[in-house]
Amino acid sequence: MDLEQPFHVFSAADVRAALPMDKAVAAMKSAFRELSAGEVTVPMRTHIELPEHAADALVMSCYSPRLDQVGLKIITLHPNNVEHGLPFIQATVMVLDAERGTPLAVMSGAVLTAIRTGAASGAATDVLAREDASRVAIIGSGTQAATQLEAMCAVRDIRAASVFDVDMARAKTFADRMQEQLQIDVVPAASVSAALAHADIVCTATTSRTPVFADADIAPGTHINAIGVYKPDEREIPAATVARARVVVDAVDAAWEEAGELILARDEGIITTSHIHAELGQILAGVKSGRADSDEITFFKSVGVANQDLSAAHVVFARGTALGLGSSVSL
Ligand SMILES: NC(=O)c1ccc[n+]([C@@H]2O[C@H](COP(=O)([O-])OP(=O)(O)OC[C@H]3O[C@@H](n4cnc5c(N)ncnc54)[C@H](O)[C@@H]3O)[C@@H](O)[C@H]2O)c1
Repeated sequence: MDLEQPFHVFSAADVRAALPMDKAVAAMKSAFRELSAGEVTVPMRTHIELPEHAADALVMSCYSPRLDQVGLKIITLHPNNVEHGLPFIQATVMVLDAERGTPLAVMSGAVLTAIRTGAASGAATDVLAREDASRVAIIGSGTQAATQLEAMCAVRDIRAASVFDVDMARAKTFADRMQEQLQIDVVPAASVSAALAHADIVCTATTSRTPVFADADIAPGTHINAIGVYKPDEREIPAATVARARVVVDAVDAAWEEAGELILARDEGIITTSHIHAELGQILAGVKSGRADSDEITFFKSVGVANQDLSAAHVVFARGTALGLGSSVSL
């Protein structure tokens, strides 16, 4: 390896500047198409439990011939961090050149994860939500909730959003901040039912292990993005909603490993494995159909896939170096 090869370091602010939401949505569409076409190598991610700290670490890697890069993310999830004023999720993403194996960059993975997860829901919403969808309900008001709402505004003409969180003060602060940032009406809701009333699009981005709403609160024609759960015995969405929805996932194999909403509903005999209609990438490629009619409930479940991180990091590296962001060191 050339010891003088510059190695770029991008902070959270650099990642944010290099990866605007519209570019992130476009990158996620390419990533999901590539994933469903089998054009990327994505080993199942490694879960490392940290029982002494009631936390998890996940190691996610992939190789994309299209990008000619290898990506690696290590992400930690510490639910008790909030008591110490630290974020629930922290992460680092590394990009390597595939041809020579040279490390190219390292960057803040927390903000990258939030943007790419929002953008994945944005890509799904773009192909699955009704064209006239204009009202969003956001359940949860943490880090991911913000980029979910940002992404909805990038793909639909959103007029208003309501937000519900079990922490009402957090929901109020979130609503004020997002209203200012997005220049749309964002109101905190007193109950989850109130948040869902009149919603065309629902995004769940919580740390809940049990359903965050009642099936009866979901109106025909709603599109739902559920991003919160990544464990087989947890769920944010009731089985009854899963059963009456057209279900689309980021990756079928990962969904049957980690998506509690689907795994529990299957194990309870409420759905069968054929209930997953498609991977998002198949719909984007035109191989599978999207929404059937304006009354259908569509449900996008994502657990997160490593080539999303590499596709987002690829944009950060390319645009970040072109824009002169970050700093470089010799390894
Ligand atoms: N699918 C993906 O690719 C992906 C990527 C990153 C994070 N996630 C998941 O997203 C979830 C949210 O992450 P975050 O970083 O925003 O966490 P966070 O701690 O910043 O926010 C979570 C919020 O959910 C709220 N909440 C918990 N239970 C609730 C309930 N029943 N109803 C309403 N609100 C409730 C909490 O009060 C908190 O404000 C986590 O479960 C995380 O694992 C998924």
